[in-house]
Amino acid sequence: MPHVPTILVFDSGLGGLTVFREIVKARPDAIYTYVADDAFFPYGHHTEGEIIARVVPLIGDLIAQHAPDLVVIACNTASTLVMEHLRAAYTVPFVGTVPAIKPACAISKTKRVSVLGTKGTVKREYTKTLIRDFAQGCDVTLVGAENLASLAEAALRGQSVSDASIAAEIAPCFLDGAAPTDTVVLACTHYPLLMEQLTRLAPWPVDWIDPAPAIARRVTALLGPAIDAPAPPPARIAFTSGRQPGPVLARGLEPFFGSTLPAA
Ligand code: DGL
Repeated sequence: MPHVPTILVFDSGLGGLTVFREIVKARPDAIYTYVADDAFFPYGHHTEGEIIARVVPLIGDLIAQHAPDLVVIACNTASTLVMEHLRAAYTVPFVGTVPAIKPACAISKTKRVSVLGTKGTVKREYTKTLIRDFAQGCDVTLVGAENLASLAEAALRGQSVSDASIAAEIAPCFLDGAAPTDTVVLACTHYPLLMEQLTRLAPWPVDWIDPAPAIARRVTALLGPAIDAPAPPPARIAFTSGRQPGPVLARGLEPFFGSTLPAA
């Protein structure tokens, strides 16, 4: 009997759902637990030391609790820091989420690319190394958004988020002149939650690079393709704050989990 894998998807909040939905498409047969570390959100406002000290033991606890076959860290702010610590501490395979600089630079025609991430992600040595290794002659601008992850989270929680606040966060991505920016890397998993607003509010059309499909491909490369198995139990979601989603958030989560929302 082929094994049905259990996959744990982790983020600081609800942004990792943009990765989760792609993984579910690739492995609809798997058993899923999604964990949002909302008690420590937003990671972008914490120091590197604080994030390592928070995430490494927390993932250890989650592995002990859920016994996953694979863990996806669906957060750039964490993955650009903790992957080697996690792999050193635990034997379960990990897939991280890091800025998609290589594919973005490969498709840019104007050779001007922006990387839109949290303040933490754009400061990381890891991100700077990706640019050194994979810019392929592109001029890469790092843009650290102060509040965009929180705005995405608020929108999903049914709060009103003004176009002006989103436009202000993305404005520094758009450099014009002889070679205007034509490609923007979504280097925070929260941002694809705002895709409609991003495309509508962009000063001109660009390619927005979402790494989620590539992460799903990495998951199937490690676990293999979907197998013919009975339908799995519904995916579960847990919040480290212990909070249960109210009716408005439950509606926001419906596209990801369906109408029943079992807690993990
Ligand atoms: N979703 C996270 C990421 O991909 C960050 C949001 C936060 O600041 O916690 O970077």
